Amino acid sequence: MTNYLSRCISLISVMTMLTLLVSLPLAMHAYSGELQSRVPHEQLEEAQSLKNPFTITQTFMDQGRRLYEGRAFCWACHGRDGQGLPVGPDYDTSAHPMPTNFADGAWQTARSDGEIFWILKHGSHGTDMASFLPQFVSDNEAWKLVTYLRSFQGT
Ligand code: HEC
Repeated sequence: MTNYLSRCISLISVMTMLTLLVSLPLAMHAYSGELQSRVPHEQLEEAQSLKNPFTITQTFMDQGRRLYEGRAFCWACHGRDGQGLPVGPDYDTSAHPMPTNFADGAWQTARSDGEIFWILKHGSHGTDMASFLPQFVSDNEAWKLVTYLRSFQGT
């Protein structure tokens, strides 16, 4: 009986180990999928090399906030608190990704300023994140927005 019990226990441990071994890479894949760059692979290096040419001051950051909450209407999808809102009623999140939560520290760490600038210029392909440059904001204004987005970190 004890023998039978211990065989059952070892069988259960082996199965648990196997489940963990199979599910861990899957979980990690899903995680990295969310943080994976939205810039196409062949343009990533160039995008990452773009640097904010401006000195960051409180005034510069405030100008970014005014654009975010005003003319550039980022708040309509990303929320005034930067945490992301569903785009319209009945927003199907299985077919469309949610507007990014800028307060997410992991996202902030994963993205360079250059990649964010690139997204403002080209949009995130296949999502509701359109290109804003040059139709809605200029290059200089885009850097103000990049700077303002950084202020959501950890909020
Ligand atoms: C119509 C809704 C909508 C508006 C308006 C909008 N966004 Fe987005 N945005 C999205 C969605 C949806 C995503 C998620 C796309 C994805 O996961 O690839 C996103 C993603 C992003 C990303 C993250 C891309 C990445 O690299 O992970 C940035 C940065 C961004 N938006 C900035 C802005 C800024 C700045 C504005 C205002 C100029 C703005 N967005 C306006 C819907 C919007």
